[in-house]
Amino acid sequence: MKLFSIVTVAIASMSATAMGNSVPYERLDKDKAVLLVVDLQVGLYNAVRDFDPVTYKESIIGHAAIGQLFDLPVILTTSAEQGPNGPLPKEITDMYPNATFIKRQGEVDAWDNEDFRNAVKATNRTQIIMAGIVTDVCTAHLALSLRSEGYSVWANAEASGSSSTFVRDISNDRMRHAGVQVVSLFSIVCDLMRDWRNVPGAAEVFPYLDKYFPVYGMVARAHAAATTNGIVQPGEGGLI
Ligand SMILES: *[C@@H]1O[C@H](CO)[C@@H](O)[C@H](O)[C@H]1NC(C)=O
Ligand SMILES: *[C@@H]1O[C@H](CO)[C@@H](O)[C@H](O)[C@H]1NC(C)=O
Repeated sequence: MKLFSIVTVAIASMSATAMGNSVPYERLDKDKAVLLVVDLQVGLYNAVRDFDPVTYKESIIGHAAIGQLFDLPVILTTSAEQGPNGPLPKEITDMYPNATFIKRQGEVDAWDNEDFRNAVKATNRTQIIMAGIVTDVCTAHLALSLRSEGYSVWANAEASGSSSTFVRDISNDRMRHAGVQVVSLFSIVCDLMRDWRNVPGAAEVFPYLDKYFPVYGMVARAHAAATTNGIVQPGEGGLI
């Protein structure tokens, strides 16, 4: 019985390590975070087959806009943008005319580019929020390199796209095993905000969500409309 429980504990602990559970829970802090926009290029957009394309376009612009909302340092990078991968969407470059922009001429993993490494290091930030096309290469390779360098990494799973849901799933698993936090846009925003009474808080975040997470933006619209112009309808009064 004793031996059995030791073996059970050993197996449980091995599996926790394999699953990345040994990485302590860490929360995003807007004073420690930097936002990376990695190869979200118009040519590569066509390789994204795991999201509805209309939704996905909003997701990548929403990812970029997290930097504006929380006044984070932002680094843009592209891979061989004069070739078939093409430029970043102009919505993103217009958003950050002055951001550090590393145009890689060949390196697949952005971490292999010295200018990019130096740009990340120069921010003095330890928490990396990132998304890239494609998930299995541009996001995963960089995320794994950053983990091996000791950075904490949050991969925005809604703004990274890949060629299939199968490829997305194995790539996200691979990152999780290395301790990358694979998360949603809303999760990143709420973790950075922490409290609706902060600044940025409700006043700044509701308009952002209305644009990029209408699931909650519409709730806010409905609440505002009901509060300013609403009349309880027959049958509703008993629901609250
Ligand atoms: C970019 O830099 C220019 C020149 O310093 C400045 O006028 C402009 O306001 C900056 N734009 C943004 C969006 O920060
Ligand atoms: C990063 O830290 C170095 C050394 O303390 C400092 O010189 C530099 O100004 C800091 N950079 C930023 C962006 O805070």
